[in-house]
Amino acid sequence: MGREGPIPRLVTAASLLVFLAGTADSPAFPISSARWLAPGRIQQGLTTQLSECLVLPSGKAERQAVAIGRAAFRAPLLLGGQAARVGLSCASCHRNGRGNPDLLFPGLSGAPGTADVTSSLMSKHRGDGTVNPKPIPDLAARPSAHRVPRDPQKVALPRFIRGLIVEEFDGPEPPPAVLAGLAAYVRAIRPEACAGEEAINLDSMLAETEQAAAAAATSLAQRDRETALVLIAAARSTLGRIDERFRLPGLEPSRALLRTADRELQSVRSSADPGRNIRQWRRLWPAREAQLRRYEKRSLFSTRILSQHLPPSLN
Ligand code: HEC
Repeated sequence: MGREGPIPRLVTAASLLVFLAGTADSPAFPISSARWLAPGRIQQGLTTQLSECLVLPSGKAERQAVAIGRAAFRAPLLLGGQAARVGLSCASCHRNGRGNPDLLFPGLSGAPGTADVTSSLMSKHRGDGTVNPKPIPDLAARPSAHRVPRDPQKVALPRFIRGLIVEEFDGPEPPPAVLAGLAAYVRAIRPEACAGEEAINLDSMLAETEQAAAAAATSLAQRDRETALVLIAAARSTLGRIDERFRLPGLEPSRALLRTADRELQSVRSSADPGRNIRQWRRLWPAREAQLRRYEKRSLFSTRILSQHLPPSLN
């Protein structure tokens, strides 16, 4: 039977996020990603993750593409308004470029580790309003398990990623270098580079912030302002994730420092000389990193402090 008119897309990821955003502000445990980890798996999920399996290409332009993709992959803003509001990024589902067996996302997940993201993309025939969650694939799976071929000569991968961003999540059209970067990043995730589990710590988030800022500086030098703005938004969201871990009494000076660093990045958007602002920001960053590291043990980066503050209802 043929279908006439638009197929109701009631259960796209974007519309489900509207539902979730309504509950996202309830005062609670500060680490937002705890909200979409399965009960009993939260402590584990906030302290460890599978290794990234990244093989960096050798050429300068290729490295910049991977750096852009790596940062955009972790930036909720990429996926548009509602996702940005609840803090959902590619990396929420594909943690560190892998899968996420513990994801339990209200409205999007069925069993833990599943999500419904390709419903309206992949299934032109459905319109029955049912949620159809699929296991979140490990992007470092062996090539024969890839659903979307990684071949750089083919457009399948960037087309798939664009569909996720623009159609599934109703995000804004990504700048060309961001889309190419995401595809380059996904292609650089290879099973042969996998190495067990790694700790989630302040160092990895500080490095992530600096890498996004460095890639933004490069994009600005290449006069690609749109890409630079995505990268600056990525750096800011990482600062936000660091801030969540410092939301404890006694750590106010660390949070004030993070706010200053964030405000400076925010002002780059309206600056007459954004390249200069970013260069200056990067010069100040190492001292700020050192300052933040001094309090890491007293923050929610510490496994001990984290377990003291995790509400029993969450774990
Ligand atoms: C809400 C969770 C979620 C988010 C957010 C998400 N994905 Fe996925 N991703 C999935 C699921 C589930 C599948 C499997 C879909 C299927 O089998 O139909 C998938 C499939 C994929 C695949 C194909 C798998 C393969 O190995 O060939 C790629 C590539 C991918 N996602 C990349 C991304 C990128 C890039 C982003 C961000 C723009 C992203 N995903 C955001 C859950 C998510």
